[in-house]
Amino acid sequence: MNQQELIKPSSRREIETTKSKLVLGHAGKQDDDAVTLDIDPEHNPDVIHDLNQCPYPFKDNQFQEIICHHVLEHLENLPPVMSELHRICRKDGTIYIEVPHHSSWCANTPHHKLRFNFFGFDDYIEDEYTWLKGKKFRLLKKEITFHRAHRRFFLHKIFNKYPMAYERFWTYMFPAEHFKIWLSPMKES
Ligand SMILES: C[S@@+](CC[C@H](N)C(=O)[O-])C[C@H]1O[C@@H](n2cnc3c(N)ncnc32)[C@H](O)[C@@H]1O
Repeated sequence: MNQQELIKPSSRREIETTKSKLVLGHAGKQDDDAVTLDIDPEHNPDVIHDLNQCPYPFKDNQFQEIICHHVLEHLENLPPVMSELHRICRKDGTIYIEVPHHSSWCANTPHHKLRFNFFGFDDYIEDEYTWLKGKKFRLLKKEITFHRAHRRFFLHKIFNKYPMAYERFWTYMFPAEHFKIWLSPMKES
């Protein structure tokens, strides 16, 4: 399916596609199995859209798999994004999110507006206490990744096993690289 087939006139909110995988902020990386979305037309995405603008141009429950690889840190505000991811992902679908950990050398650039630690998505996870109300997700897996200098001493295993201790006491002594999380939306159907 080419770009012309995917993109409908702007008056139409939802994009028609048979693909069940969505890549947000693809930056020109080709994935023939996926619908690609980016704010920058130069990347030639299937869909040009600003992820700070809701709703996203997709139907409810449209995607089985959603990839957010190093894009959410560029956005203004997390709650509306999580609400839209919840809406467009299927009940048994998977959302993969990877962002720079806040202690990473690459977290603090002028392009990055949001910072994330190991607990950054807990407000959206079932059974986690939060004052923030809204749509919830099942946690499939989460981890912080480290440079091989820290992996050599198995520190990454200890830090992932005791994330609270890591975030409170060790994070600036042993900076991490990325934070990865796999979620599935909790919904009736
Ligand atoms: C660091 S690149 C990541 C690219 C790719 N996912 C990767 O991991 O190599 C961030 C991408 O997000 C896109 N992006 C930034 N802000 C965006 C927004 N508000 N809405 C949609 N895409 C955005 C950028 O244009 C860029 O292509």
